[in-house]
Amino acid sequence: MSVKKFFVAFMVAVTAVSLVACASFSKSSQKEDTSLSDVQKRGTLVVATSPDFAPFEFKTLKNGKDTVAGIDVELTKEIGKELGVDVHFLNVSFSNVLASVAVGKADYGISGISVTEDRKNSYEFTDTYFESKNVVVIRKSDLNTYTSVDSFAGKSVSAQKGTIQEGVLTDQIPKASAVSLTQNSEGVNELKGGQISGIVMESAIAEGYVSTNDDLTIANITLKEVDGSSYAIALPKGSIALRNKINTIIRRLKKEGKIDEYVKKANKDSESQ
Ligand code: ARG
Repeated sequence: MSVKKFFVAFMVAVTAVSLVACASFSKSSQKEDTSLSDVQKRGTLVVATSPDFAPFEFKTLKNGKDTVAGIDVELTKEIGKELGVDVHFLNVSFSNVLASVAVGKADYGISGISVTEDRKNSYEFTDTYFESKNVVVIRKSDLNTYTSVDSFAGKSVSAQKGTIQEGVLTDQIPKASAVSLTQNSEGVNELKGGQISGIVMESAIAEGYVSTNDDLTIANITLKEVDGSSYAIALPKGSIALRNKINTIIRRLKKEGKIDEYVKKANKDSESQ
């Protein structure tokens, strides 16, 4: 073997050895997953939510006290019960739900969160528990004006900040002028007041607003299905043990038809608000 060949072979061997060493080092230095035992030791499940999204989460008075109710709240109570711990809700804006989970301020976030390929890079997601689709809420008097996505050309249309509806709005109604609002209820006020012409939101939420506001309706426009048509709970990256435990609970609740019950109950409760 020439000196040169020997040298090349030597370098290849050195590189291979150090790569293997690196790989095993990073494996052993990976943080241990204490997501489930942390919650059990603490005795409290810390859950971030944005209670502006009936029937999934909304504020309500219970015995004169401000509390949160809805499908996601019922689901979380069941998870707390099964884990044998109390539940503490952090009520924040939707973008802060995702942010609190990302930095580990909450054990998980639940807020009708759509699972997308992009979000999967930053969060652990449980099994999905609800299917959603996007619609445009408009004034009833405009039902014959806004009949296609292009009919919104030059008009202001809103979506909630941090939600995938922002993307639906700019991708599918590109000729509208997009407005991002912290809460859909602000959009509803602006729509009723004439400052904007439409709001992109998911049909389960839109139906609630339409049933309590005589002057609003859902436009006869079919939006294309997007990445993110089902809801799941979002956990910090690496919270596998807690996610797996929650999955067993979600699977059981689905099998028992409990999620459908939560939907029915929350629809009734949020309408009587
Ligand atoms: N499903 C949408 C998303 O994940 C909207 C969720 C908004 N949730 C809320 N509680 N406001 O982007």
